Amino acid sequence: MSLQGEKSRSIFQRGKKVMPYGVNSNFRYWGDDDTLVITRGEGPYIWDADDRRFIDYRLGFGPIILGHAHSAVVARVQEVICNSTVFAATTPLEIQVAERITRMTGIDKVRLTNTGSEATMHALRIARAYTGREKFIKFEGQYHGMLDYFLFSTASSPKSALGSRRSPIAVAASSGIPQAISQYVISLPFNDIERLEEIVEARWFEIAAIFVEPLLGNSAGILPKPGYLEKIRELCDRYGVVLVMDEVKTGFRIANGGAQEYFGVKADLVTYAKSLGNGFPVAAIGGKEEVMMTIEPAAVAQAGTYAGNAVGAAAADATLEILENQPVIKEIFENGQKLFDGIDEILTESDIPHAMTGIPPIFGYILGTDESPIDFRDYLDGDHHLYEKIGMNLIQRGVMPDPDGLEPWFLSHSHDDQVIAETLSVFKDAVWEAKKVS
Ligand SMILES: Cc1ncc(COP(=O)(O)O)c(C=O)c1O
Repeated sequence: MSLQGEKSRSIFQRGKKVMPYGVNSNFRYWGDDDTLVITRGEGPYIWDADDRRFIDYRLGFGPIILGHAHSAVVARVQEVICNSTVFAATTPLEIQVAERITRMTGIDKVRLTNTGSEATMHALRIARAYTGREKFIKFEGQYHGMLDYFLFSTASSPKSALGSRRSPIAVAASSGIPQAISQYVISLPFNDIERLEEIVEARWFEIAAIFVEPLLGNSAGILPKPGYLEKIRELCDRYGVVLVMDEVKTGFRIANGGAQEYFGVKADLVTYAKSLGNGFPVAAIGGKEEVMMTIEPAAVAQAGTYAGNAVGAAAADATLEILENQPVIKEIFENGQKLFDGIDEILTESDIPHAMTGIPPIFGYILGTDESPIDFRDYLDGDHHLYEKIGMNLIQRGVMPDPDGLEPWFLSHSHDDQVIAETLSVFKDAVWEAKKVS
């Protein structure tokens, strides 16, 4: 059965004539019959072009932390943009946002960008300039945006291409990336302390940075093993490597101070986006004084026409004001735990082997095994066919997680008890239907 109603189908067909795959980002294409056409959102809900309502757990791949079209954020943006949007000059609002970010996260210095990809691009350049080294480590199944350097061994890599755990291969995730780029990328399995230690000890003098998503926000929310992030910190300190925490998904979602606060490990550089602006385009690169100040003597090129623009800055200001003054994330954890536990219970009652992953504001589950995955390779061993079937059943019934289990479920503050109860009731039916058909 197609996910598109009549109006969605006709709009999508128009889109296909003028945009590759009919979408503005490849991840949004679900096939010619199932690609969504969404017209509006409010709180935990979105509506498609056929006016079907869905409880949204994709939340634009994570940004919506307060709820869709949050009135205070929308009002602040409306108010600010009446005085124009870009000036090629600093505004008081940008400084206020920078003050909020540094106060909430404990970083020393920050610059605003527009997207996560821009922020990670700058982080890599700053780390290279700071260390005078060119290579960097990233982990399999992690995604750091669209820069050529990062598009290796992302969550779209097939397991057969990754090589052995002892000798992993950096697999390009796209055509068009020069072969030579792979020499700068050292790709390793997540959570493998021994392998990481071996590589850093042998090659530290050429390694500028270790880039890590502190939990695998692009691979089902898999958590770091106890002590793993601390070990990365220790190796970076010992060998003068810059620790970059990519908090594009975890920042302002799992704690006001992000993963640095949640896991108690400090990074040298941090990237934020997504929840920073509750869905408006704003991101940031920040970190320790000494590392960020590599920018100041003009040693590092860091600029952008729209960096700090009024739309993003106003959205960030309003979002952070709410996060700073209200127990938003605490309540997301409380409500999310009910959903997390409810899903766990339904899968158990349905005799489906599974393991829950992540934490309530960003979580997932793997089917077909009781073993908790510790890395992307483990995740690939799960029953993805069943996951997708349950996902499609959910969407057909008005609950919208991503049908690809690598993309976690996200919660916003607007997902209250009643929304979660409705979700769990639909989840029960979706699982029952999937089991009946399999
Ligand atoms: C961890 C992480 N880093 C970077 C990015 C890139 O962000 P953007 O899509 O805003 O460029 C993403 C996007 O999903 C992400 O999840």
